[in-house]
Amino acid sequence: MKYSDLSSYHFFQKMIKIKEFKDIDKKDTVFIKKYLNKNDILLDIGCGWGRELLSLHSCCKKIIGIDYDKIEISVAKDFLKSIKNIQLILSDARNLKIDTNSISKAICLFNTLGNNIEHLNIILKEIYRVLNNDGIFMGVFYKKIKNKKRFNCYLDAGLEPDYIKNDNLYFKDGFYSKGFIKSEIINYFKKANFKTIVIKNLTDISYFVVAYKK
Ligand SMILES: C[S@@+](CC[C@H](N)C(=O)[O-])C[C@H]1O[C@@H](n2cnc3c(N)ncnc32)[C@H](O)[C@@H]1O
Repeated sequence: MKYSDLSSYHFFQKMIKIKEFKDIDKKDTVFIKKYLNKNDILLDIGCGWGRELLSLHSCCKKIIGIDYDKIEISVAKDFLKSIKNIQLILSDARNLKIDTNSISKAICLFNTLGNNIEHLNIILKEIYRVLNNDGIFMGVFYKKIKNKKRFNCYLDAGLEPDYIKNDNLYFKDGFYSKGFIKSEIINYFKKANFKTIVIKNLTDISYFVVAYKK
């Protein structure tokens, strides 16, 4: 099965059968909740079908989900239609349709930034722009040292990984996701002007990154 044949929901339904991915789904919510409060305006970048919007909407004042894929946004709108404090916007992370300084917490999960390496500097600057002065970004990044293991996890999930090159794991349709080392992540965030970057172990194959605007 190629990634491009699947919506994020269907890709997720396959991945979630595998322990390594299930662990991320369980733990990212728990980690994020530690940083949230009821007054937060939370932005989910690359929200897909709305997995995390559903888990977190009751922990903050408002959640805005953005995704550049029309189908993802319409699936999320349908899935989350009964929840009042969720707003969904069709938008590319490179050019967020969000006001400057208007967001208190931003998240980007399941290594979505690792699918955007060519644009990562621009995207992080956009995240920095929309966060308010006390704003915090939280993200999940795959570990480079576990690329091989992750390759086998996709195989076990019935997906079609193809090869690993230059830290990127490629699927047969050319879709890729990068595995990171900690110093790279720190450098990317520093370049975008974030002041403090904390990297924790989330699971065997993933890091949880917290980046503070000030
Ligand atoms: C790996 S899925 C993650 C979905 C969701 N965040 C989750 O954790 O379950 C990545 C999602 O990000 C979206 N995406 C990838 N690059 C994007 C970009 N540059 N701007 C907006 N959305 C993007 C994709 O369309 C897809 O829905």
